[in-house]
Amino acid sequence: MTNWVRAHTNIALIKYWGKANDDLILPKNNSLSLTLDAFYTDTKVTFDQCLETDLLYLNGQQQNLAALDKVKKVLDAVRDKAGIQTRARVDSINYVPTAAGLASSASGLAALAGAASQAAGLDMPFEELSKLARIGSGSASRSIYGGFAEWLKGVDHDTSYAVPVDKADWDIGMLFIIVNDAKKEVSSRDGMKRTVDTSPFYEGWLQSLDGDLSAMKQALKDQDLKRVGQIAERNALKMHATTLGAQPPFTYWTAESMTAMEAVRSLRRQGYTAYFTMDAGPNVKIICRQSQLAELKDLLSEQFAESQLIEARPGPGIRTLDPSEALQEKGD
Ligand code: DP6
Repeated sequence: MTNWVRAHTNIALIKYWGKANDDLILPKNNSLSLTLDAFYTDTKVTFDQCLETDLLYLNGQQQNLAALDKVKKVLDAVRDKAGIQTRARVDSINYVPTAAGLASSASGLAALAGAASQAAGLDMPFEELSKLARIGSGSASRSIYGGFAEWLKGVDHDTSYAVPVDKADWDIGMLFIIVNDAKKEVSSRDGMKRTVDTSPFYEGWLQSLDGDLSAMKQALKDQDLKRVGQIAERNALKMHATTLGAQPPFTYWTAESMTAMEAVRSLRRQGYTAYFTMDAGPNVKIICRQSQLAELKDLLSEQFAESQLIEARPGPGIRTLDPSEALQEKGD
């Protein structure tokens, strides 16, 4: 049983930023995200008695040991559960339009959880898959579901997983502004750890989260895009503010990120419902009406290259590709 499994990436509107347990990846706070159609990962896992170590091939290229770290954690958990010791070969293909350099750990580790559990003969419900993906990378716990998902922080492995919140079958979309001059960044893993350990602003961030989360859930219920955008933008700015207080201080923003944020504010002045969010990198994601994606892209193309602007709509949850589909898309 070696099927390709597809998972889409997600972008948090209420951010996960900091761990209560580094090993299990239990977060300090609940987070809430939107899964998107534009970026996804297909993964196939083959347990093979002949292998002496686990192997990872990303877009056809064999990866080094460091890249295997997160993958091994998920594979070990699957082996544990299935009562096997066999090593595995993992083939993973990232679908990211243009050379955007967007992180893909959310879709990658979610697809891995699905593919590895299937290959080991385990039939895991979504909640279990979410826990398994979480062990690899926190944000991956949310990529099991389509639409909006909330990752419940929990207190141990069994209580920390994501749940679906809303199908997102209404007029919401995201426009990515890809900022290309990214310097070598601090990974989200290192960045959040440094912030938790050293930033005096971290407590303030934590204290404001319950309010943001409940306001966001109400706004989603009301399908109130303006409120969703306002809360998400405010939440992202607060998260990024914590990094400035860390020791040593750091920021994911570049001059071009600031230009992009200003462009979003200018869209607002022109009457559009447009708000931004940012993650552990310089790219800016605009929360907007799906029905206005093309129009906004057109307006922004005066300032940014066509290749920097990527439209995204709400995407589906994890699924197994049927063989003909996988064959067709990968030509193998
Ligand atoms: C800023 O899930 O990449 O994107 O759990 O250490 O693998 P690890 O971190 P990761 O962190 C994502 C942080 C974020 C916010 C979010 O997605 O909620």
